[in-house]
Amino acid sequence: MKVGITGKGKARRITVNRRTPVIEYSFKGVERRGGREIGTSCGRVAISEEEWGLALRKELDTYEHVIGFGEKAFDIERRRLVLRMWNTDPGGYRRGDDPIYTSIPFFISVREKVAGYFVNSTSEVVFDVGVSEYDQVLVKIPEKHAEIYIFEGSTIEEVVEQFVGLTGMPFMPPEWSLGHQISRYSYYPESYVLKVAGEYARSVPVSAIYLDIDYMDGFKLFTWNSKIFRDPKGMVESLHRKGIRAVAIIDPGLKAEQGYRHFEKGVGGYVETGDRELYLGRVWPGLCAFPDFFRDEAVDHWKRMVKSFVTENSLDGLWLDMNEPSVFSETKTIPEDAVHSYRGERVKHGSVHNAYGFMEVRATYEAMKEVVEEPFILSRSGYAGIQKYAAIWTGDNISSWDDLRLQIPIVTSMGISGIPFAGCDLGGFAGRTEGELLARYYQMALFFPVFRNHKAKDGSDQELYLLPERFRKMAADAVSTRYMFMPYLYSLAYEAHRTGHPVARPLCYEFQNDRTAYSINDEYMAGRSLLYAPLLEKGESGRDVYLPEGRWFSLYEGAELTGPGWFRRGEGDSIFIRRGSVIPMSGNAYLAYGSGEFHMFDGKERLLKSDATGFDAGHTVEEGEVTFLGIEGGRCSMDGKMTGCLSENGRTRVAGRGFRRVSVLSRAGSSRKHAGSKQRNSNHRAVQ
Ligand code: GLC
Repeated sequence: MKVGITGKGKARRITVNRRTPVIEYSFKGVERRGGREIGTSCGRVAISEEEWGLALRKELDTYEHVIGFGEKAFDIERRRLVLRMWNTDPGGYRRGDDPIYTSIPFFISVREKVAGYFVNSTSEVVFDVGVSEYDQVLVKIPEKHAEIYIFEGSTIEEVVEQFVGLTGMPFMPPEWSLGHQISRYSYYPESYVLKVAGEYARSVPVSAIYLDIDYMDGFKLFTWNSKIFRDPKGMVESLHRKGIRAVAIIDPGLKAEQGYRHFEKGVGGYVETGDRELYLGRVWPGLCAFPDFFRDEAVDHWKRMVKSFVTENSLDGLWLDMNEPSVFSETKTIPEDAVHSYRGERVKHGSVHNAYGFMEVRATYEAMKEVVEEPFILSRSGYAGIQKYAAIWTGDNISSWDDLRLQIPIVTSMGISGIPFAGCDLGGFAGRTEGELLARYYQMALFFPVFRNHKAKDGSDQELYLLPERFRKMAADAVSTRYMFMPYLYSLAYEAHRTGHPVARPLCYEFQNDRTAYSINDEYMAGRSLLYAPLLEKGESGRDVYLPEGRWFSLYEGAELTGPGWFRRGEGDSIFIRRGSVIPMSGNAYLAYGSGEFHMFDGKERLLKSDATGFDAGHTVEEGEVTFLGIEGGRCSMDGKMTGCLSENGRTRVAGRGFRRVSVLSRAGSSRKHAGSKQRNSNHRAVQ
């Protein structure tokens, strides 16, 4: 066994029997020889060769926390779990089902110090966190070679920054993708899509509508069923006139059918069987061929199809589904012995499985970038680095009160695993949703970057305008509140794009020395400034809220609370502002709480005014007035004028949805401006 080590101090790369991995990241330095044991600030790591591959053992200590691993249907704390990395379509999942769609073989250990461990393998790696060996994290790699990265730091944030720094900075999502999005399996015909958009326009704001597989002709990719979609481009343009974007679904498999041009043109670039035959797997359209995204020819063909489809139909985004890839067979995916061609070598599917969706998304993103200004992709599957290209949604959740609670640890764990842009199907995908549950989903996901209502064919209707008034109002208020916080969400998205920091964060990310924080799965932070504790139980009208150390301002009650401690709060009292924060809001307003000096600069970085101290929260900024407050040494940059308003006495309301880009990085001394942009109805580049 040959061990090589590159780098020292905070980030190291360990290679075992060096081989170029399928997904390569750039890591500079000269490799030197290493031994089988590596000391890290969170315990020793020992490497051994086994019959079935390689084993890594990292010591697991009594008070150590283990978090990360991306999309897993468990609580935030990962101790005493066995987690499998194998992108899978579980066809609906519940708490405890593992694996699901997206695998991120990366975890963070927190002791006095913090360390991150990333096993860059796209095959089926298993992490056994103290189950079969009580005092070890045992990692089983089914190959004789491995690439492992170890990151060290004093905070979780530092480790996340290093992991994202290696795997790729998140793309910058377009503003509209942070708004309220709606979807159904499937809205059709064309007139119905417009009807739904019209109903929403009269009731609750919507920023995008999704088209599910029924728009296609026999589920053939990049086609339309012209009986029900006579003029797709016209339909999209009329959505644009209403200020609504259009996103269409694309699956990876192309129907293997003679005469289907897109399939025929791709021949020579598909996944093959071990006998060099075309591999065919059954999915929605029947037997399909799967583009081998590891081959340049397949990527080029795919990109051509994407570009013309997006351009011809004026689409704003693509929704990449079934890309684990999902096949309707016993193993639920392409057989492990099917073959891809990678850099001229034949590689078995089993060793690149977890990279399949990643490669598809990357090709799609690169194609979209050529034809739209701000590409948006919502993907179901991914691998470490997927954040460069796409947001992830958590797939086919089942409408239930437990799923409502489960989505918080899933989405926030993705946040600390490099994927800041994530969300779940509001209302739950499968099953029947009652009004109260749907309204609670809207409230629960208020600060999730992806905020999309989606439902299965045979599930109950869950358009907000169909709900009983009481629940409709609850959900509509959640949407209003989201738009009120939109400049803050946008600011957090920008922070994520520049730093890799998550938007929705588990409490432990901000309060890593607070043991209780690791057990809080029913609250989350939006950025560093806001703690959110929604109601998650049926029939509940109040709950106990845990507030970590510090002073907090309850937005709804206007009360100041001092943590750490538990507080009984009533319905609606779910938003808590951390002292020392300034939050940009719609309506030319800043919500500022704390004291200190807050400076504001104009778009040219000229200081407009400084010196204010000690405001209470809920301060309303009049047009032209320049205000401030907040964090010591904080800086804020503001661009343009916003519309809407934030209101009095700690109670909130919203009037207006328009906003321009504003970004505030509320860390002492760091602030960056993002170029302002006018609200546009379409983001297409001029067609060449
Ligand atoms: C999968 C997706 C779901 C979609 C359906 C039909 O189940 O996860 O969101 O509606 O396929 O395309």
